[in-house]
Amino acid sequence: MTEAATPRLEVAGLSRRFGARAVVADLSLAIAAGQVTCLLGPSGCGKSTTLRIIAGVDRPDAGTIRIDGRVVCDDRVAVPPERRSVGLMFQDFALFPHLTVAGNVGFGLAGMDRQTAAARVGELLERVNLPGFAAKYPHELSGGEQQRVALARALAPRPRVMLMDEPFSGLDNRLRDGIRDSTLDLLKETGTAVLLVTHEPDEAMRMADEIALMRDGRIVQQGAPYNIYNAPADRAAAAFFSDINVIRGISRGALTETPFGVFLTPGHADGAAVEIVIRPQHLKIELDRNGRGPSPDTRNGAAARGIVTRARFLGRESLVEFRLEADGTRLTAAVPGVFLPRAGAALWLMIRRDRCFVFPARP
Ligand SMILES: Nc1ncnc2c1ncn2[C@@H]1O[C@H](COP(=O)(O)OP(=O)(O)O)[C@@H](O)[C@H]1O
Ligand SMILES: [Mg+2]
Repeated sequence: MTEAATPRLEVAGLSRRFGARAVVADLSLAIAAGQVTCLLGPSGCGKSTTLRIIAGVDRPDAGTIRIDGRVVCDDRVAVPPERRSVGLMFQDFALFPHLTVAGNVGFGLAGMDRQTAAARVGELLERVNLPGFAAKYPHELSGGEQQRVALARALAPRPRVMLMDEPFSGLDNRLRDGIRDSTLDLLKETGTAVLLVTHEPDEAMRMADEIALMRDGRIVQQGAPYNIYNAPADRAAAAFFSDINVIRGISRGALTETPFGVFLTPGHADGAAVEIVIRPQHLKIELDRNGRGPSPDTRNGAAARGIVTRARFLGRESLVEFRLEADGTRLTAAVPGVFLPRAGAALWLMIRRDRCFVFPARP
């Protein structure tokens, strides 16, 4: 294998049980230098446990962890956390309260001569935009400033891998986007491989080169944000990123009839129940022209008439809820800007065939 092909971090077959429960189950992933992978999943799915095992503060029941090709953990080897070259940033990034900002940032540089360490601390404080903060104490800083000190502290020893567990969750909303972006810039600049844990899809979409979607201890789908969003592996993966609409039907001869016309449903057995999933922003609204809707076409299928049950303006978009005349199915459409039809109005809805996902119906 060439050096370029060796991932910075490689995890293979990682498993961890607590009692009878498999909290991490056969999890594998690889992250290249300079790449940000987000481990994304609902609370309790095993994200932090995975991170703690990679950091070396917990041990797996099975699996191998390599950093730059070197085994740091398998059934015989367990390199201690401080010798793995990993930087850690956890949810409560607790700075040492009795140390100054410079003391905190320089904490991991004990082996370095004082002058070099001081220069490195200065360089990092400059980089996280906190020049002149060296002598301050943590309690004198805002939440955002503390977060930047914690980032500088984690990066000071130039770790090969950065492990971050919900590092932005303590910050208030208005600060968060700016801090996410500047953190991402800095991580990219240092070329570290980053594994960032989050339960927020927006954060993962914003930060990740690759998302590893996790559920019940397993990675259910892995890929670029664009691919995960636009080609979800199953209904739950689709629903994790936005509200969804579900239209049910029965596949016959690889076709499923619905109030919106026929959908191609190849790969589903004759008589199999299927769910056609569509995000609210992909439900197209057409005006009712004296009771006649738009003509069917191959791109959008047929139009179905819906009665507006509620419409709300959310700022960037309006959400319009419908009851389908044909069978009472409830659907929600998201429309950019202001669109607030009154309840009871009749409108036509269409579904772009290349914007919907077909899954086997959940039992
Ligand atoms: N040391 C432990 N002993 C027993 N159960 C644990 C331990 N650590 C975590 N768990 C359980 O494992 C599950 C996954 O936890 P965690 O990895 O923290 O999830 P996440 O970070 O995705 O929210 C939870 O149900 C949690 O209660
Ligand atoms: Mg967690």
